[in-house]
Parts: sequence; C-alpha cells; structure tokens
Amino acid sequence: METPATRILIVPASAPHANVISALHGLCFDDPWSRFTVRQVLAMPGAFGLLAVPEGYSVPETDLAGFVLVRLAAGECEVLSLAVGEAWRGRGVGRGLLDAAIDRARAAGATVAFLEVAEDNPAAQGLYRKLGFRVIGRRNDYYKRRHGAAAAALTYSLPLTP
Ligand SMILES: CC(C)(COP(=O)(O)OP(=O)(O)OC[C@H]1O[C@@H](n2cnc3c(N)ncnc32)[C@H](O)[C@@H]1OP(=O)(O)O)[C@@H](O)C(=O)NCCC(=O)NCCS
Repeated sequence: METPATRILIVPASAPHANVISALHGLCFDDPWSRFTVRQVLAMPGAFGLLAVPEGYSVPETDLAGFVLVRLAAGECEVLSLAVGEAWRGRGVGRGLLDAAIDRARAAGATVAFLEVAEDNPAAQGLYRKLGFRVIGRRNDYYKRRHGAAAAALTYSLPLTP
C-alpha cells in the first residue's frame, strides 16, 4: 500500500516502460504522447529517461510516481518532458528526478541544460528556479491547449559546472 512515507526510487527507463510513461504523460499534459512517441524519444541518440517508482513495486506493472525524459547532444542537456503523478506531487519527486537527470548529464560532459515550460505553469517554474534555472527566452503560442488560447513557452537554462 502506498503511503506518503513510501520511499521513491529513481531508476533508468527503457523501451518496455513506454506504456506507463505514456499513461502518466496523458494524465499530465494536453498533448499526450503515445507509447510509440515515447519509444521514439527514448531511441533518439543521446536520449535517456529516469523513472520515479515507489519502493517495492515493479516497473512496468506499477503506476509511476514520475518520469523525466532527456536528450544529450553537443554538450547540451535538453529536458524533453518531466511529470509527477498528482498523488505524488509536493514530496520532492520532481526535484529528485531533475537532480538525477542533471547529475547524469554533467557526468556525460554536458555543460548547460535547457528546457521549455508553459508561462502559465507556476509549479514547474518554481521547481526550475529552485534548481537554479533562469529564463533566457520566450516563444509565443507555443503550447496548443485543448480548451482556450495557446500558451507561451519560457525557455530556461542552467549552466552545469563540473
Ligand atoms: C511540476 C512538477 C513536475 C513538480 O513536481 P513535484 O514533485 O510536485 O515537485 P517537488 O515536490 O519536487 O517540488 C520542488 C520545488 O518545486 C517548487 N514547486 C513544486 N510545486 C509547486 C507549486 N505547486 N507551486 C509553486 N512551486 C512549486 C517548489 O519550489 C518546491 O520546493 P519546496 O517543496 O521546497 O517548496 C509537477 O507539478 C507536475 O508533474 N506537474 C504536471 C506536469 C508538468 O507541469 N510538468 C512540467 C512541464 S515543463
């Protein structure tokens, strides 16, 4: 039984996890990624994923607490997607995933991280600012919404010192 005290483990993602990643993505975003899209993302050169799973549960049978998908290229780390299930939010899971992804990127030689986030997403922006990310750009009408007007994206960046 999952409780607020359940320990969360961060483990590497691979192709068989595409289903559970896709399912959580669909719950968290207006533009759900199919399991095929997730598989394609994980298969891109330099891409990797990390999962947050409740201790004692096996993946992919269990629901995920969260995931992060990242791509490394030319010394840069791009955070492609990050999500934490609603029941697991506010417990440091998002921070743990992003910290682990940044550690791995730094170890692989990346010197800077980038990501995009909707301008109307204060939770994610709070997390990114807490980890030291700063806004470096804005893209109008970047995120199409199921309901209402499209939202702008803010581009955040973080230098990765060794
Ligand atoms: C954004 C998201 C990943 C945060 O995950 P989380 O596990 O709840 O975040 P954490 O508990 O690790 O929080 C770490 C820090 O982020 C910030 N933060 C988290 N939730 C916040 C909120 N609702 N409002 C403002 N800041 C928030 C805080 O600074 C927090 O530190 P604190 O707890 O010491 O105050 C999660 O809300 C989510 O999955 N949302 C839906 C999908 C999404 O928006 N993904 C990001 C797309 S770019």
